[in-house]
Amino acid sequence: MKADKWAWWKEAVVYQIYPRSFADSNGDGIGDLNGVTEHLDYLKELGVDVIWCSPFFASPNYDNGYDISDYRAIMKEFGTMEDFDRMLAGIHARGMKLVMDLVVNHSSEEHAWFVESRKSRDNPYRDYYIWRDGVDGGEPNNWGSCFSGSAWQLDEATGQYYLHLFTKQQPDLNWANPKVRDEIFDMMTWWCKKGIDGFRMDVIGMIGKENYNDGPVYPGALYGDFVPSCQHTETTHRYLKEMRERVLDKFDLLTVGECGGTPADAIRYSNDDGSELNMSFCFEHTDGICDHTEMGKWSDHGGPLDEVREVLNRWQLALQGKAWNSVYLTNHDQPRQVSRFGNDSPLWREKSAKMLGTLIHMMRGTPYVYQGEELGMTNIYFKSIDQYQDVEVHNAWKQWVLSGRVNATDMLRWFAKIARDNARTPMQWNSQPNAGFTTGTPWLPVNNNYLEINAEKALKDPDSVFYYYKKLIALRHTHDIIVYGEFIPLLENDPCVYAYRRALDGKELTVLCNWTDKTVPCALSSDEMGEELISNYPEHKEGFLYPYEARVMLK
Ligand code: GLC
Ligand code: CA
Repeated sequence: MKADKWAWWKEAVVYQIYPRSFADSNGDGIGDLNGVTEHLDYLKELGVDVIWCSPFFASPNYDNGYDISDYRAIMKEFGTMEDFDRMLAGIHARGMKLVMDLVVNHSSEEHAWFVESRKSRDNPYRDYYIWRDGVDGGEPNNWGSCFSGSAWQLDEATGQYYLHLFTKQQPDLNWANPKVRDEIFDMMTWWCKKGIDGFRMDVIGMIGKENYNDGPVYPGALYGDFVPSCQHTETTHRYLKEMRERVLDKFDLLTVGECGGTPADAIRYSNDDGSELNMSFCFEHTDGICDHTEMGKWSDHGGPLDEVREVLNRWQLALQGKAWNSVYLTNHDQPRQVSRFGNDSPLWREKSAKMLGTLIHMMRGTPYVYQGEELGMTNIYFKSIDQYQDVEVHNAWKQWVLSGRVNATDMLRWFAKIARDNARTPMQWNSQPNAGFTTGTPWLPVNNNYLEINAEKALKDPDSVFYYYKKLIALRHTHDIIVYGEFIPLLENDPCVYAYRRALDGKELTVLCNWTDKTVPCALSSDEMGEELISNYPEHKEGFLYPYEARVMLK
């Protein structure tokens, strides 16, 4: 008996493309849709089922496309609508699917709706956004933006403030206005009719603003927290149910919400009853475990085994039989996983990259692979602030360093560990200049380890991280237990080993991962665990696990 109902998106593996950094087809230094099309055979070879492409819509790029100025046009740097059609046809011709990024908590300030909205208080588009009067000569409330500073911007033209939970170039859309919902649902339907296969929904848990009360100010913080008023509210759940009825139920889609929150929140967003989304992302093991100080994510806390395991196991157990999970360790907002959770030294990079892949791909939930993860790409370790492009980094620099609150050396160390640009350096294709990403000057430097780490080299080496991922993906397509098996944690207090079991129809799959660079004892005996499905070591030592060893056994 399967613990879960069948669905194609449960059996799938999703590959995330960050188009700006994937492949540049015309030498302007910026990745583009034709670049994606040229590399579809590579993705087919890897064996992934679904491609989630970060936003490719018209945008002034204050936040690399997460600020959309026209939802029905292609970003000019990325190509044309014909290029999109060709990319989609190429994906479908290879039996893969395309999930687009839906960024509708906010638009760009250059979207025609906002251009109108800010013109006057009685403009017909005024209510498409969230405008408020100031209070006592200041902002309407104490909320801080996710990217530093206040979440409110005074607009001189009309003397009111608008809300932006991200940069001031990303004004929040007013979902309470039924016209806004109509526009968004029409636009989604339009893309579905064009043939896309799903949506990854950007910060979708924030669309339902319930009130505009001051938020709690945590010790040392400069602003109040908007979360109690804006995140995971009943209003958000109501909008998602409406979206489900008016759009999603009419097509066969993969839907994943960038929701975060607790397992209880995820159970509502991605409930088996099918009332909202298919699945949502957890952030407790990425953003959550480093949110230890008033500096938010900025620290070198990294990701210790005990904390990561506590979060992932808790989510695995809580969602089981109730909701579907999506599992990942990195994406375009996180550093490279091998640098953060593994070991990116030449000695252990490949072993630890394979171990982390094993850990994720054997869990209950749909696995997500972020471009370059299948090569074991690493952080770039920029040394100075000028090397970064990311608006999040520059705003944080202004808020903490330029104001004298934090010293530059600490901040640069934290950026090197955790900043988003680490995952955004160009894809490393081969040993040509700029790793074959571009014939021009790349918009963000290529990591200079590309002669060692690149796709061409990986494809020639049967022992590469690439072929290991290919095998992990193929195993998912062969063994039901990997998709549908019940999750059972093992050795929950082991300081070095992350272990768990999956169970289905009397079968058992055991997963052992050594999270350290030492050979460590393992309390489970391999004799009783059955046949080996995959491992990153050709041989084993009974009762022990080698550094970063991963093994999966089926009985
Ligand atoms: C999401 C995106 C991130 C973006 C933000 C604002 O978190 O993943 O890249 O900056 O939303 O759209
Ligand atoms: Ca280009």
